[in-house]
Amino acid sequence: MPYAYDQATMTTGIDTIDEQHRKLFDMINEIERMMGGYAPDRNTKISGLISGLVNYAMNHFAHEEGLMEKHKCQTAEVNKLAHARFTKQVGTWVERWQKSQDPAIVQEMGAFLGQWLSGHICTIDVGLRRCSQSSKH
Ligand SMILES: [Fe+2]
Repeated sequence: MPYAYDQATMTTGIDTIDEQHRKLFDMINEIERMMGGYAPDRNTKISGLISGLVNYAMNHFAHEEGLMEKHKCQTAEVNKLAHARFTKQVGTWVERWQKSQDPAIVQEMGAFLGQWLSGHICTIDVGLRRCSQSSKH
C-alpha cells in the first residue's frame, strides 16, 4: 500500500522539512515497489534503498531536531526520544534483513515505516508549525 504525504494534516510550515517528509514517503514506497518486483538483483537493490533511507532519515532527524531547539518547540524533547526509539527499531530490522534476506522482514519494516512516519508527522512534527510561527527567525 503506497504511503503519501498529506499537506492538510502534515505540513510543518517549514519547506525544507515538508520536502524531506515527502522524500521519506517516496523512499518507503520505492522499497515496497522493489519488493513487489522480480529483478534478479532485487535484494542488493533493496539493501541499497534501505541504507539510503536510513542515511536520509538520520540527516533529516538532525535537521528537524536542530530547528525544534532553535524555535524552542514544546515537542522538541519528545521528538528526540521518538527519533531515538525509531532508529533503534529500524536498526534491528536492518540487521535481521542483512542476516536472512527474508522478504517478510522488509514487508514488515515497510508497513512499520509508513505507519510510523504518518503518525509521527501528524502528532509530533507538526509542533513545528506553531513554534516556528511564534518565534522570530
Ligand atoms: Fe520528527
